Amino acid sequence: MTAIVDLDAATAQALHTALGTDSLVLPSIDALRRHLEMHFREDAVVLGPSVDLSSALSLSESMRVTRPSLAVILVRRRVDTPVLTDALRSGVFEVVEERDLAGLSAAVRRARDLSRRLRESVGEHTLTDESLSRGKLITVFSAKGGCGKTTLATNLAAALADHGRRQVCLVDLDLAFGDVAIALQLFPAHTIADAVPLAESLDIEAVLSLLTPHSAGLTTLVAPIEPGTAESIPATLVSKVLDLLRQQFDFVIVDTPPAFDDHVLAAFDQSDMVALLATLDIPALKNLKLTLETLDLLNYPRDRWRLVLNRADSKVGLALSEVEKTLKAPITAQIPSSRDVPASINRGVPIVLDDPKHPVSQAIKLFAERHVAAGTATAEDEIPSQLRTDRRGLLRRRAKTT
Ligand SMILES: Nc1ncnc2c1ncn2[C@@H]1O[C@H](COP(=O)(O)OP(=O)(O)OP(=O)(O)O)[C@@H](O)[C@H]1O
Ligand SMILES: [Mg+2]
Repeated sequence: MTAIVDLDAATAQALHTALGTDSLVLPSIDALRRHLEMHFREDAVVLGPSVDLSSALSLSESMRVTRPSLAVILVRRRVDTPVLTDALRSGVFEVVEERDLAGLSAAVRRARDLSRRLRESVGEHTLTDESLSRGKLITVFSAKGGCGKTTLATNLAAALADHGRRQVCLVDLDLAFGDVAIALQLFPAHTIADAVPLAESLDIEAVLSLLTPHSAGLTTLVAPIEPGTAESIPATLVSKVLDLLRQQFDFVIVDTPPAFDDHVLAAFDQSDMVALLATLDIPALKNLKLTLETLDLLNYPRDRWRLVLNRADSKVGLALSEVEKTLKAPITAQIPSSRDVPASINRGVPIVLDDPKHPVSQAIKLFAERHVAAGTATAEDEIPSQLRTDRRGLLRRRAKTT
C-alpha cells in the first residue's frame, strides 16, 4: 500500500487513480505520520504538489534516520534545480512532475522494489518471510482476578515496543470489565465491539481503523465501553481479529479476564506463548495449579507456557522452591511488589516507560527481551480447528462436573 498525501481532493484522486488500488489517500502529513506508525511495512509514500515543500522535506529527513527503507516521492507542479537540490539534501527518493503520471507509477515501482531489497539486506525489523506474515501472539492470563494481568500486559507491550523499535498491538479481551484504556489513559473512538457489524468484510484495514494508538510502536484494541456487549462478540470474530493483527504487528499482546471463556480459548489457540500469572498466596497458587491442569487437559503444549510470579518479594512465608514443587513447573519470571505500580497506573503511564530503571520495570523488560522476544518460537503447529472444538466441549463437560 502506498500512501498519498495531497490537500486538494481532485489532485489526490488523480494520483490515486494513477497508482491503482494498492494506494490510499491521506489528508495531511500528520495523518501520514500516524499511518506510518501503524504500518511499518510501508515501502513508499507520495507527497502531492499541494504539500508544502518544507514539511515534505522535513518528513523525508526524519524518515531517512528512523525508517531508511521508506522511499519519499515528491510530486511538484514544476521540477526545477532548487527543488531538486533541496530534495537531494533531504533524502527524497525521486521528484516527479504532476502531469507525468506514468513517471510517478514507475517511480513508485522502483521505490518499492528498492525498499524491499534494502529492508531485506539491512534486516530492518529483521523480518524473514515467515515472520513477515506472522507476528507473535502472547496471552497474559490468570484464573484469579487481581493478580496483575493488566499490569503485566500493558507493561510487557510497552517494553516490547521499546519506543518504536518494534510494532506492538495490545488487545483487551477482558470484554466485560477491561481496563487497558484506563490503565493507559486512552480516549478510544472505537472498541473491539465495532468489529461485529464488519464481521463478513473484516480485513486488516478495517481492524487497523479500530485501534487507539498509545505511544511510539504501541497501539491498542480496547474492550467495549458497555459491559453487556461482550456476549455479542463471537469467539470466531476474536480469532479473526487476532489473526489479522498478527499479520501486521511484531507482537500482539492479549490481556484477559480471570476466566476460561470462549474468547480466552480463542486467544490461547493462536498463542505462541501464554504468560500465566500468580501471586504468592494460596488461592492464587491453587488457581494457577488448576489452570495448568486444565491446559494439560486441553493438550496445550507445555513449552508455550511461562509462569510469572507477581509481587514475588512479598514476605508471606512461601518459598519459591516449594511453589515450583507444588506446581511441578519452573517459575520463569518474578516481578517485585511496589506501590509505584498502582501510582503509575493512576498516572496512565506504564511503569516501564515512566521509570525504566525501577526494579519492576527491569523485571518486566528482562522477561520481555529474554523470554518473549528471544524465547518464543512462532507457533508453527497451529492447533487444528476440529481439535479446538473438541477441547472446548471437554472443558465445558469438566466445568459441569466440578
Ligand atoms: N507488582 C505489583 N506491585 C504492586 N501492586 C501491583 C503489582 N502488580 C499489580 N499491582 C496492583 O494490583 C492491582 C491489580 O492489578 P491488575 O489490574 O493488573 O490485575 P488484573 O489481574 O488485571 O485484575 P483483573 O482480574 O481485575 O483484571 C492494581 O491495583 C495494580 O496496581
Ligand atoms: Mg485486568
